[in-house]
Amino acid sequence: MSQLLFVKSSVFGDGGQSSQLADHFIEHWKAAHSTAEVVVRDLVNQPIAHYDLTAISALSADVEDRTPDQQEIVTLSDTLIGEVQSAGAIVIAAPMYNFAVPSQLKAWFDQIARNGVTFKYTENGPVGLLEDKPVYILATRGGQYHEAGLDYQVPWLKLILGFVGLKNVQVILAEGLNMGGAEQSIQAARSAIDSISL
Ligand SMILES: Cc1cc2nc3c(=O)[nH]c(=O)nc-3n(C[C@H](O)[C@H](O)[C@H](O)COP(=O)(O)O)c2cc1C
Repeated sequence: MSQLLFVKSSVFGDGGQSSQLADHFIEHWKAAHSTAEVVVRDLVNQPIAHYDLTAISALSADVEDRTPDQQEIVTLSDTLIGEVQSAGAIVIAAPMYNFAVPSQLKAWFDQIARNGVTFKYTENGPVGLLEDKPVYILATRGGQYHEAGLDYQVPWLKLILGFVGLKNVQVILAEGLNMGGAEQSIQAARSAIDSISL
């Protein structure tokens, strides 16, 4: 097994509940793949600029027409996509902030979803171009959404991952972390991680 890519997006850094679940996942991963390298993409300590016209212009300019500034933007996007391509599996620590993913994680997807590189449009609709691989989403949130049918975060994550070709997605939920029973919820998520066969 090649690399594990860990995409980290809690503003609380290593202390974040999603980061701590990811640490548990990585221990479980290393037990199964002792020689595999873990590559960390820390979206809080190495923030990615929000998508804007400058970025769109850079990413859509012809290679020979790119200015040095545009090339810098494309190089970052290439690096982020390269990390996804090189990974044998991906773990995404995804806290819920205001019913969605952290804006840092959205900014990462804005760089990953690239026309002609990770997806293309055909007569039959969009086609993802990334080679499929396991993606593990560790979703933490203060409230309860899943059973109420009010979770717009994980469905969005699955939608955009599938859009670029990543359809082999497993979700570990830790809900109600700001309600009573947070400890049980974290423990259940840790047990769910332990039961993933890698
Ligand atoms: C800025 C912010 C916004 C939040 N918004 C929500 C929310 O919309 N729904 C919810 O259930 N919890 C919300 N929470 C609680 C977090 O989802 C919960 O504490 C989660 O475990 C945080 O994960 P982390 O520690 O990995 O960052 C929010 C927390 C923060 C800091």
